Amino acid sequence: MSHAESHTSPHGEIDLNVVREMLSHFTYQDHQEAQELILSALQEINEHFGWVSMEAAELVADHLGTTATRVYGLLTFYADFRTQPRGKNFMLLCHGMSCYVMGSNKLIEELQVNYGIGDGDTTADGELTVQVVNGCLGICDCAPVAKLGDEFHGNLTVDSLNEAIRNAIAARSAVAVS
Ligand code: FES
Repeated sequence: MSHAESHTSPHGEIDLNVVREMLSHFTYQDHQEAQELILSALQEINEHFGWVSMEAAELVADHLGTTATRVYGLLTFYADFRTQPRGKNFMLLCHGMSCYVMGSNKLIEELQVNYGIGDGDTTADGELTVQVVNGCLGICDCAPVAKLGDEFHGNLTVDSLNEAIRNAIAARSAVAVS
């Protein structure tokens, strides 16, 4: 068994057996129907693992009777797809209207200056990935808002953003060594 097949971490390699199992639910009558399923298959993999590896994309191509090149093309065309694993901590930073009015720009700037990351990037040490959301995270009353892991942080300032990030990284490291 290869390393990829034995690993199930959402932050590491993609378990290709899980991908095969997902793909087995995508059934079709003809080539045209198969083509229409490519995006849904990629979306499902992206949602489950947080990204789509080249190996996973090749399985999609095989299963749906298309070329790997075509699948890679779709992966890079749509901004929603990630082709790199996420960092250990994943943050959604809201840049919707309320958060924008309440200063989400400053938070985005802080991430760029202090961590060297912009939308979709991961820090060099692999600790943090950020995705800037232009929609709304649904709690405008607490704008500006970020969701770090499963936790929402509201009324953020540059200081409280940094603190939330520090705490999340420390908490995850503590789990890793215990
Ligand atoms: S706009 Fe950010 S939570 Fe609604």
